[in-house]
Amino acid sequence: MKGIILAGGLGTRLHPLTKVTNKHLLPVYDKPMIYYPIQSMINAGIRDILIVTGGNNAGDFLKLLGNGSDFGLEHINYTYQDGEGGIAEALGLAKYFAGKDRICVVLGDNIIEKNFIAAAEAFGKQESGARILLKEVPDPERFGVPVLEGERVVKIEEKPADPKSNYAVTGIYMYDNTVFDIISKLKPSDRGELEITDVNNAYIERGDLAWDVLEGWWTDAGTFESLIRANSLVAETGANRTD
Ligand code: G1P
Repeated sequence: MKGIILAGGLGTRLHPLTKVTNKHLLPVYDKPMIYYPIQSMINAGIRDILIVTGGNNAGDFLKLLGNGSDFGLEHINYTYQDGEGGIAEALGLAKYFAGKDRICVVLGDNIIEKNFIAAAEAFGKQESGARILLKEVPDPERFGVPVLEGERVVKIEEKPADPKSNYAVTGIYMYDNTVFDIISKLKPSDRGELEITDVNNAYIERGDLAWDVLEGWWTDAGTFESLIRANSLVAETGANRTD
């Protein structure tokens, strides 16, 4: 399975912090934000990694990460997203990199306390489809929210005013290679972006979306509140633990 980290976007929710730099280069405790999703991938056993970036200071990723020696890697792949086309558009740019393989996608501002090795292994046993990770949160309306019927996710609603569960769909997704066909047929949402939630809903319609609940804390870091929470959580307990 290949890994794709999405680290583009303009980070407008963090202005003026992101007026001259990319959100994923901002510090989270003692490391730049992008270090955490890279370590999450590696801990899940994924070493063939593509970083999709864009917006401000895209070139700084090369200077910061180089070939990945800080992570024990020999090479990191990079690609560039123009503008603000959304998460699914950024993922579409990774088609050439994925080839015929399955992919794991991690959003560059998602930080986890532990790891998702178990989910990656379970996905390896799936014949096809997608696998997502859910986490209970106090503010589901900020995220993609699953509508559950028993053990089945019947739909995901993006930032619903009236959330149907207390779970967020985290920014860790695993897809078979048909994800690129799904993306090529997507239409922009009301905010003019190709939504990852629409990709997941396409798998649900096919009856081929599995899910797990992520162990340990999870946070995004794309707003002032979540960025300070991410800093505190990492400082208090450390991130990306494998014990
Ligand atoms: C994105 C997705 C959302 C998901 C979240 C996880 O939201 O659209 O479904 O729950 O990432 O971090 P964004 O933070 O880009 O608005």
